[in-house]
Parts: sequence; structure tokens; C-alpha cells
Amino acid sequence: TGCITMDPGFGNTGSCYSSITYVDGANGILRYRGYPIEEIAEKATFVETAYLILYGELPNPRQLADFRASIAEHAPLHTSLEHHFSGFPRSAPPMAILSAMLNIISCFHPEVLDVHSEGPGFDKTAALLLSKVRAIAAFSYRMATGKPLIHPNPSLSYCSNFLHMMFSEPYREYIASPVVEKALTLFLVLHADHEQNCSTSTVRVVGSSRANLFSSVSAGVCALWGPLHGGANAGVIRMLEDIKTSGRPISHYLDLAKDKSNDYKLMGFGHRVYKNFDPRSKILKKRVYEVLNELQQQDPLLEIALELEEKTLKDDYFIERNLYPNVDFYSGILLRAIGIPLNMYTVMFAIGRMPGWIANWKELHEHGQRISRPRQIYTGETTRSFVPLAQR
Ligand code: CMC
Repeated sequence: TGCITMDPGFGNTGSCYSSITYVDGANGILRYRGYPIEEIAEKATFVETAYLILYGELPNPRQLADFRASIAEHAPLHTSLEHHFSGFPRSAPPMAILSAMLNIISCFHPEVLDVHSEGPGFDKTAALLLSKVRAIAAFSYRMATGKPLIHPNPSLSYCSNFLHMMFSEPYREYIASPVVEKALTLFLVLHADHEQNCSTSTVRVVGSSRANLFSSVSAGVCALWGPLHGGANAGVIRMLEDIKTSGRPISHYLDLAKDKSNDYKLMGFGHRVYKNFDPRSKILKKRVYEVLNELQQQDPLLEIALELEEKTLKDDYFIERNLYPNVDFYSGILLRAIGIPLNMYTVMFAIGRMPGWIANWKELHEHGQRISRPRQIYTGETTRSFVPLAQR
């Protein structure tokens, strides 16, 4: 095996130095640029959080106004870009559309292809991406539901503008209530970065070849799509629906998850780094109650989720393996409460994670990091002689 150190799945391999996000998995601590997630979640808007993650400091009022103006300026999509949406079948998964469209955008902005990690070119590209991801997500929903596209309204906040593009009609403007706007802000803020997770590492691996920011984040979307990563938020709701409609006791699902002869996992449980509560899940659990109360809604899935959590916390299998609810466990219930359709949940995660992906790409360039190129241990055949076709 020579000098190769094996670490499949990179459970214990540091791939970079980073000053963006700190995670202490044993103690359930998460900080963005040194600020505890609990404080950010309570006090910051998504745009402020994005600025902090991208540039390392909370913006002053002028910096924030400029950043907001830049995001607002880039909110609409080029008309030709809009036509691309009609080429997708109605049933196209929104994550496929998002990844494809993020790459396509670069064709409309050739000037961004050789952008580097600082200066006005980078600032523009970052604001453009944060803005366009929101429009692409909303437009993919409008096309899938056969509704006319609703163009952005620059006077609205980041979250209200998204909800406007999703839910307004030409004859009736959707006005987000403060509760809904706050809930969406919280969701996005909690997803804004999480150090070297699968999608962020993907962005870094792609970016390390000096691929442009658009193709790097487009690859990040693909990595996020999987059910073990961002796809878990929709998986949780499917699982809870299944528990509800099947009428089977929760213990049946715990037994399934513990049974090693199948691949079944409890969605929204477990984490590579957190061996304690995921702090994002704690915040979400608390806020889900408040949001449902304030919206005067009741969600039967919340009762099931609470019971499931309670049972796992008393079960030896989950205790021994330190399996706690992760960020995806309660986030779907929050998205349901604000009216986001199930097939858009992972897209919502992608909108939230965009600042983290961009900041990691930026940092990679600032550090002049080498191209990512892991090694392997070869386990295949040794030398063989070629067998002509007629003799096979
Ligand atoms: N249900 C049942 N058993 C589990 C679960 C689960 N959700 N998660 C881990 N385990 C078991 C796993 O089978 C293993 O058991 P054993 O030691 O007997 O082989 C043990 O716990 C350790 O888990 P692991 O597979 O080594 O953990 P990992 O770090 O490779 O994977 C994970 C982490 C998040 C992919 C995994 O816990 C999982 O698949 N969870 C369900 C999907 C999910 O909720 N994903 C969202 C992750 S958090 C936010 C995000 O990235 O989107």
C-alpha cells in the first residue's frame, strides 16, 4: 500500500484550512466566523449572514445597503434564459433544473468565467449567484405548475421577494406575513454554511481545478441532491407521512432502521460530525412550534416527529451510536408550514447553502490550494494479456 493512508468517505481527513465556519461535533457547537449560530439565527437576516460568511465581518449599514442593491440588481433572469425553462418536462426534478441553470447562467455572463476571489468582479458574481439561485428556484416551480412567471420586485426583502416569485399571481400579489418571512429567513440562515460537508467539499474539489464559480456551485447542487445529504429534508417528510398513513407503530420503524439486513435509515437522524444534538435542529424544533402557533396551523406530522425523537433518545441502538436529530429533521415541517412544496425542499437547502459554497470557493483561491487529487489502493487484476475478440 506504499505511503497511502486510507480514509474512505474522508471521516478523519482535513482537506483545507478555513476561517469560515467552526463545528464542535462533540459539544453541538456551530459558529459562523466566530458568531454562535443561536445568535445569528435570532438576530441576522439571510443577506447579512451571507455577507458575513463571504467577507468575514458583519456588514456596516453602507456595506449592507450596497450588497442588497447588488442582489436586487441581479434578481431578474435574462429573457433568453427564461426560455430554457420551457425545454424541461413538467415533471423535471427542480434540483436537476437548478444545477443545469446555474451552469447555463455563465453563458450569459462570459465576463464571470475568469473571476477570481476578490475585487468587483468577484463581488458582482457572488451577488449575482445569490440572486439568480432564488429566481431559478421560483421559476422552476412556476413552470412545473403551469403558472406564468412572476418577476422579482426589487423593493422586497430577499425572502419576501422569493415568496412573491413563488406565490404571487398576475391578478393577486402574495404578501408574505412577518411570521412566514421570519421562518424562511431562519431556514436559510441555518443552512448558510457547514464547513466541509459533501456538497461544499464537491465545490472545493471542482474549484480546485480552477473551474469557474458557476460550474463549481452547480456541482455542489448535484452533491446536495442525494438523500444522505440535502435530500434528507424531503425524505423526513416522506417518512413521517408513511408512518402516519401506514398505521404501524413507531417501534416498527425503529426496528427497520436497526435491522442491518436492509438499507433503511431514519431520515433526519445521525451526522458525521455531531455526536450530540445538532444545534440547528434544536433551534428549528423550538421555532416550528412558534411558527405553527402564530400561523394557527396544526401539523399531525409534528406529533409523529416528536414521538419518534423521544423514542430514539431512549433506544440503546441510537444512544450507543450517538444518533440525534440533524438539521433536516424539523426543517421540512417548517417549510410545510410556509407552503413550500415537497419537491422544492432540497432546492431551498441549496438557496441557503449558496453563501457557504461561494465563500469556500473564494477561500480555496485565496489560499492558492492545490488541485484535489486523492489516491486509491488498487484491488483489481494484476497484468493480463489481451484476448482477441474471436477467442472470448
Ligand atoms: N438510522 C439508522 N442507523 C443509522 C442512521 C440512521 N439515520 N445514521 C447512522 N446510523 C448507524 C449506521 O448504520 C452505523 O451503524 P453501525 O455502526 O452498526 O454500522 C452507525 O449509525 C454510524 O453511522 P455511519 O453510517 O458511520 O455515519 P456516517 O457519518 O457515515 O453517515 C449520515 C452520516 C448523516 C449520512 C447518516 O447518519 C445517515 O444516513 N442519516 C440519515 C440521512 C440524513 O438524515 N442525512 C442528513 C445529514 S445532516 C445535514 C445534511 O448533510 O443534509
